Amino acid sequence: MRRIAHISDLHFGAEDPLVAEGLLEDLARPLPHLVVVSGDLTQRARKSQFIAARSYLDRITVPQLIVPGNHDIPLYNVVARFTSPLARYRHYITPELHPFYHDEEIAVAGVNTARSDTWKEGRIAHAQIERFRAQFDAVSPRLFKVLVCHHPFIPPAGDKESAVVGRVREALRTLETCHCALILSGHLHLAYNGNVQPHHLEITRSILVAQAGTAISHRRRDEPNAYNRITLDGDTLLLEVRGWDGHQFATTASWNFRRVENGWCE
Ligand SMILES: [Fe+2]
Ligand SMILES: [Fe+2]
Repeated sequence: MRRIAHISDLHFGAEDPLVAEGLLEDLARPLPHLVVVSGDLTQRARKSQFIAARSYLDRITVPQLIVPGNHDIPLYNVVARFTSPLARYRHYITPELHPFYHDEEIAVAGVNTARSDTWKEGRIAHAQIERFRAQFDAVSPRLFKVLVCHHPFIPPAGDKESAVVGRVREALRTLETCHCALILSGHLHLAYNGNVQPHHLEITRSILVAQAGTAISHRRRDEPNAYNRITLDGDTLLLEVRGWDGHQFATTASWNFRRVENGWCE
C-alpha cells in the first residue's frame, strides 16, 4: 500500500497562514509515503517567497517530489525570465528538474512544463518525453507509474477555454506504452479528475488524471483550498479530495477506481 499526498499551487506570497498550518497538520495524519508538489510554489518567484516555501517544505518529514509551475518563473523581470528562469527555484527548492522517485511499489516521474516564452501556458519537450520514457523503462514493470507536472492534460468538465499542456498527444502516447496509470497536475486551481480517453481518442488505455486545487493560497476559484490524498492498494486506487472547511481539512469527495486490463474502471 502506498499513500501519496498531492499538493499544488501553494503560491507563497499569497498564502493563507491558517490554511498552511492546517495542511501540515492534515498531512501528518496519517503520514503519506510521498508528498508530490505540482508547481506554483510562489506567487511571483521572489526570493522571500522561495525562502518561505523552502522553510515550509522543510517541515514535511516524508520524501517529496516537486516540479515548478509558471509562477516560479519571474514574470516582470524579463532579463531573469529568459536568461535564468528557474535560478531561484533551483537554488531554494531543488536543483533537480527531472525528479524521479521509486520504491518497491511506485515510480513517480516529474516534468517541468513551465516556459519563459509563453509564461502562462505549459509545454513538454521531446527530450522530456524521452527522459520519462527512460526513467519508467528502467524500473520493474510491476511498479505503479505516475507522472507529475504543473499544467493539465485534460480540461475541467464543460470547459472549452482552458488550454492543456503543449505536446500532450505525443506525451500521452509514450505514457501509454510505459503503462503509466496516473497523471497529477494543478495550475487551474480546480480539483477534478477524469480519464484521458474521452479527450484523446487515439489512446487505448485509460489513464487517470487527478487535478489538485490550490492547497493554501487565497487565489481560489469558487472552491475551498484542497489537496488530493491518493491511496494505492493492490489493484485499487482511492482518490480523496481533502478540502479546507474553515477550521481543518476533511474529505469533501472521494472516488474508488479499480485497475483492469486496459486501465481503470470506477
Ligand atoms: Fe497556480
Ligand atoms: Fe500555474
